[in-house]
Amino acid sequence: MEENTQPTIQVTNSGKVVVTNAKDVNLLDGDGNPIPKRNRFSLCNCGKTSDGPFCDGSHNG
Ligand code: FES
Repeated sequence: MEENTQPTIQVTNSGKVVVTNAKDVNLLDGDGNPIPKRNRFSLCNCGKTSDGPFCDGSHNG
């Protein structure tokens, strides 16, 4: 199977939003300023994180 190298956004069943191959993805705050990120990161979609906008696993608790 060929490895996916395309920028991909997956909404998981647990509620987080996983972004992979994100080298060329711009992640911006509400004012349009860049937020430092990695090539793979998860965004919080549940509102429980203490590390917004990233998922910190709080959706499990
Ligand atoms: S989705 Fe994981 S902390 Fe919100």
